[in-house]
Amino acid sequence: MYRMIGKVCVVGLALMVSQLTLADAESEIKYRKAVMKVVGGHMGSIGTILRGGVHMEDLKLHANGMASIAQVAPHVFPEGTDTGKTNAKANIWQEPEDFKMAMDKFVAAADNFAVVANAGDMANIGGAVKQLGGSCKGCHDDYKKE
Ligand code: HEC
Repeated sequence: MYRMIGKVCVVGLALMVSQLTLADAESEIKYRKAVMKVVGGHMGSIGTILRGGVHMEDLKLHANGMASIAQVAPHVFPEGTDTGKTNAKANIWQEPEDFKMAMDKFVAAADNFAVVANAGDMANIGGAVKQLGGSCKGCHDDYKKE
């Protein structure tokens, strides 16, 4: 009997440890949104530079910034952050493999864009930015509310 109670307690404890507290979940969601704002900020800057022809000297910096923040993005979706003030859809955690594919596409597109921008390869910059923008839309369409 004691042994059984002991086991139940251990299982209960394991569950508690793996679950985020509400405060942690709120901070995780806040952090995720802040990270996505950085992604959005670099994207808006890149688009404006390329379309408007202003501050071309900053293009590499934004490209490298995007490649850096793309390394952060895969770990801002921990389990237990699907409710509260978030526009993330629950299917992120129900279809983790498909979600990972959408994330991998973004990381690859950001890396490729940085390579093209750093090389000053303006013949391929349009294609690279299209691929990058497509990776945002590819994920948002399926996994972001609105
Ligand atoms: C693999 C999925 C995925 C990719 C790729 C992705 N996003 Fe997001 N993005 C999300 C999700 C999910 C949210 C909602 C987050 C939340 O509300 O918790 C979001 C939110 C945002 C937001 C709103 C942040 C806020 O203020 O709440 C912006 C801006 C944004 N993304 C821009 C981008 C841009 C630009 C790209 C591409 C360069 C991109 N995202 C790529 C999944 C993705």
